[in-house]
Amino acid sequence: MNAPKDFNDRMLSLGLARVSEAAAIASADFIGRGDEKAADQAAVNAMREQLNKLDIAGTVVIGEGERDEAPMLYIGEEVGSGNGPGVDIALDPLEGTTLTAKDMPNALTVIAMGPRGSMLHAPDVYMDKLAIGPGFAEGVVTLDMSPRERVEALAAAKACHPRDITVCILERPRHEDMIAEVRATGAAIRLITDGDVAGVMHTAEPDITGIDMYMGSGGAPEGVLAASALKCMGGQMYGRLIFRNDDERGRAAKAGITDLDRIYSRDDMVTDHVIFAATGVTSGSILPGIKREVGYLTTETILMRSKTGSVRRMVYRNPTR
Ligand code: FBP
Repeated sequence: MNAPKDFNDRMLSLGLARVSEAAAIASADFIGRGDEKAADQAAVNAMREQLNKLDIAGTVVIGEGERDEAPMLYIGEEVGSGNGPGVDIALDPLEGTTLTAKDMPNALTVIAMGPRGSMLHAPDVYMDKLAIGPGFAEGVVTLDMSPRERVEALAAAKACHPRDITVCILERPRHEDMIAEVRATGAAIRLITDGDVAGVMHTAEPDITGIDMYMGSGGAPEGVLAASALKCMGGQMYGRLIFRNDDERGRAAKAGITDLDRIYSRDDMVTDHVIFAATGVTSGSILPGIKREVGYLTTETILMRSKTGSVRRMVYRNPTR
């Protein structure tokens, strides 16, 4: 019997969780072992193998890099059995390779899937990002505001003082001015060394994570993954691609992007219903890391569907061989 050709997100979602789990399990032996490349490679191999078992005609839209840079899960690679619906796939087999190698918090395996044509083909450049959780009027904070204005606008919307706001920012020299400006408002900053997909996701559950807003630049591919997650969890996200030279502008042209200054909202980056799965590799506020016991590895995966807003947490205990 032929597999159905429509995007049955409900049925496909369980398969997606397996893909994410497999990548995490494969990276387990590399947690805290100081070898980020080996950790990434193990996750890539496992993710690809598992993805190819799904009955989909998938195209990697956000992947490990351009075809000439990445041997596997490169942008444009066809994945799945080919017998099923045409889908776009955004993935990062190991988001936070350094976090994994150093056993630091918030490394995840991440994958999102939507109907064909539903995801922004973001080139591998930086993106200026801004995100807040659900429950606020659209546009209460914008990328055109200064960091200070964003903190003040969010504090006003929450009817609190800026000192009650916590902003998450990647710790990078390029963010020094932003960090100083946010601190001058009285707001707190949670600095992260890597992993801005998790950083953005934190804003969707501020009661659990303590983070109200994410801002700063990071990878554009990670931006599309984070937009997929927020589309399921609720919350606003904006992104503007940053092009630093002709090579990067060339990447934009290749991806079919003509308006280089465009601000993309969450729903511009992901235009249709999406399913999203992430598995914790190292412990964080959203997901616990992989637990190792003699003879077993245990993972936790968050599996979400934007169509229903359902959020499922799946604990998987897997015998080690
Ligand atoms: P990797 O997992 O590929 O190492 O990426 C981690 C990451 O921190 C992303 O979360 C983030 O978007 C990007 O790197 C930031 O890039 P840079 O390290 O160049 O500032």
